[in-house]
Amino acid sequence: MKLAPDSLAFALDGAARALEMVSTGTSLPLALSSTFVAVQATPQSRGAIQDLCYRSMRSWGQSNALMGLLLDSPPSPARLGSLLCMSLGLLADTTRPYADHTVVDQAVSACAADPELTRAKGVVNAVLRRFLRERDRLLATTQTSDEARLNYPQWWIDKARASWPEQWEELLQVGNQRPPLTLRVNRLKGSVQDYLDLLSQQQVEATQIGPSAVRLAQPTPVSEIPGFSQGWVSVQDAAAQLAAPLMQLESGMRVLDACAAPGGKSVHLLELEDIRLVALDNDQDRLKRVEENLDRLDFEAELLRGDARRKDWWDGQLFDRILADVPCTASGIVRRHPDIRWLRRPEDSAALARLAADILNNLWSMLRPGGLMLLVTCSIWPEESELQAEAFCRRHTHIRLPAPGQLLPMAGATQDQDGLFFALLQKPLF
Ligand SMILES: C[S@@+](CC[C@H](N)C(=O)[O-])C[C@H]1O[C@@H](n2cnc3c(N)ncnc32)[C@H](O)[C@@H]1O
Repeated sequence: MKLAPDSLAFALDGAARALEMVSTGTSLPLALSSTFVAVQATPQSRGAIQDLCYRSMRSWGQSNALMGLLLDSPPSPARLGSLLCMSLGLLADTTRPYADHTVVDQAVSACAADPELTRAKGVVNAVLRRFLRERDRLLATTQTSDEARLNYPQWWIDKARASWPEQWEELLQVGNQRPPLTLRVNRLKGSVQDYLDLLSQQQVEATQIGPSAVRLAQPTPVSEIPGFSQGWVSVQDAAAQLAAPLMQLESGMRVLDACAAPGGKSVHLLELEDIRLVALDNDQDRLKRVEENLDRLDFEAELLRGDARRKDWWDGQLFDRILADVPCTASGIVRRHPDIRWLRRPEDSAALARLAADILNNLWSMLRPGGLMLLVTCSIWPEESELQAEAFCRRHTHIRLPAPGQLLPMAGATQDQDGLFFALLQKPLF
């Protein structure tokens, strides 16, 4: 039986395939792009599949706990587990756009249409109906476990509690919210007020939440954002927008963006000053996205593929400024990437901190005396952020200049940001 591409069953089937890939270690964006091709998703069904996957990742802890209560053993194959977890997550979610009976009916149809799952349609039907009958009791039972209540792996919850004893629960809850769509206004094209006026003329509701940051009230496809294709605005979180202004740029400076892709901060640097920018990244595919960003805003930079731990890509000329937006666990941006918490392992943070330390040591030797290096991470784990900065400062003669340090993820009426870290380091003249 072929499912209609505009049906919920089609979306559930596609999402179950993508989530099955996530369960074996693939990131959700990669899993989604390969699933879209595999199931020949239409533009509309892509949106529905994506929405189901992102919702599911935010309620995965609770859905898994429910599945444990409703089944004697883990379902096999893994795709059946994904379909059940996702459907339970939908039925438990009071904000879902579908009626109970639609979810059950469409989950059974998705199962029936998949040759690998068709035998399990009776189980899916029985499990989901039992959940509906016993919903309150089952949900109350899951609330006794932190993992189910907060929807993070236990080790992540423990690490957050140990790192941020006062704020841990709030920051985990922010990570479960849908992220806002925040724009950075390109001040070369006009002021923030000019852009807010343009939005208001087009009846687009928005709030200014930072010096150049405007948050749209409703998520909007990028192609429909007023002025996006003309380069008036870029999509960038309010905390990420703090990086470029911290660099104290002057016209003509030679600047290295050492971990540049996809180029959000590279473009911001170029918006602020007429600089000579070298944008380095070790991932060729991601470098293409830097190129697209530069093209959209009509900027030029020298794009290099290379490893920031090495010197083989460097022409030997010192840089005036270096932006080191180093690889990290991305634990500060889980509201945008809710799969990260389920994919990461406890040991990743230390391994990434070692990689970043090697990058920082190497970059420091490419900075001119008196020059500035800005360390940025999108992590809330201290070993990748403040402890990393402190260890660097013990290894190198430096001056540490004022910078925001650790910003925790925050969502509010007038302030809204991801969890980023900033340390600004100056190389002494002598
Ligand atoms: C946090 S992202 C950078 C985001 C980017 N600065 C922006 O604002 O759009 C980190 C980047 O570091 C790159 N990367 C990882 N290891 C690297 C290495 N050894 N050398 C250079 N780039 C590296 C990754 O490919 C990734 O694009």
